[in-house]
Amino acid sequence: MGRAKKVVLAYSGGVDTSVCIPYLKHEWGVDEVIAFAADLGQGDELEPIRLKALDAGASQSLVGDLIEPFVEEFALPAIRANALYEGRYPLSTALARPLIARSLVEVAREVGADAVAHGCTGKGNDQVRFDVAIASLAPHLKVLSPAREWRMSREEAIDYGERFGIPAPVSKKSPYSIDLNLLGRSIEAGPLEDPMVAPPEEVFAMTASVDASPAQAQEIEIAFDAGNPVAIDGVRLDPVDLIKEANRLAGEHGFGRLDIIENRVVGIKSREIYETPGLLLLIRAHQELESLTLAADVLRSKRQLEMQWADLVYQGLWFTPLKDALDGFMDRTQSHVNGLVRIRLHKGNATMIGRSSSTNSLYLPDMATYGSKDNFDHSAAEGFIYIWGLPSRLWAAARRD
Ligand code: ARG
Repeated sequence: MGRAKKVVLAYSGGVDTSVCIPYLKHEWGVDEVIAFAADLGQGDELEPIRLKALDAGASQSLVGDLIEPFVEEFALPAIRANALYEGRYPLSTALARPLIARSLVEVAREVGADAVAHGCTGKGNDQVRFDVAIASLAPHLKVLSPAREWRMSREEAIDYGERFGIPAPVSKKSPYSIDLNLLGRSIEAGPLEDPMVAPPEEVFAMTASVDASPAQAQEIEIAFDAGNPVAIDGVRLDPVDLIKEANRLAGEHGFGRLDIIENRVVGIKSREIYETPGLLLLIRAHQELESLTLAADVLRSKRQLEMQWADLVYQGLWFTPLKDALDGFMDRTQSHVNGLVRIRLHKGNATMIGRSSSTNSLYLPDMATYGSKDNFDHSAAEGFIYIWGLPSRLWAAARRD
């Protein structure tokens, strides 16, 4: 098969992507592998990772600081769209893929590469997301996915890497497959493959267990401006710092763990553990403020389109005309979503306990009150209900049985 000469590889520093470097060169005859590592706020030190790619035989090793575009262009839209795949998973891994794909394409253009590559396996969602995003941005660019084709077990991949000076992972015994970035962690495999086995405490890193979380509840306030979170407890923060702070607060109180059976794009069910404390907290708070500030019918339509938005992101269809059109709808609604949400964090829970909007509240006290200031026209309800119930009344009267 006609392979490439110069390839830009999405590089994480893990076994699979490291083994991709010698594999591309020695098995597939690639002359030059350029490693590209994305900083998405995963907290790893990128310099050792950059050097590791060179040790593995990369001719160049680049690091892209993508944390700001990740938050601005991917995390904030997901919050505005209340994006929860299958009603639960806030897409912490999925959201990173189109951005990494876009960066790979940019680097490939800069260095004049004739292909890009990734280390995804053949049964996950990430391969779909990379391949489809790259195809949407650069339809003629070749995408190589050695790990999908090499048919090596993890042990064999480690052995293969060792032949080319790639050290076996320190945590050779860790049975878990983990993906992480600023928005959260996903943990799969090992004992978790039995859906009846509870996740051991050791798999979590961003959230405290309920037992270890503070006995004392903490109340916080999150401010939103045009659907974007902008301040916590009155302190304005840039979006990256805001998500870090939301992670810290929610994580400390043990909020943001998920244990779900999820339907993958490739047709299988998988058991997934996630911890996405800040993102989940911000979505919950954002939903709460929308309930105060959006018209009932807009809100209902938006809830349906949110599901579709989340499906598109999960399924790798970020750079598509439908996604673009849905973004238009989301953005148009968000100019109204301004105000404050009060939340109580306690023992694994984030309870919405207050909401206000000085500019966009549709909650009208003189309509809602049961007190003496009530301006709702009670007598108008009678005629309304007569007409509203008319079809039911006519149907019942016409029934012969
Ligand atoms: N199931 C999740 C998703 O599709 C997590 C994927 C984790 N990816 C990984 N390379 N470990 O978004």
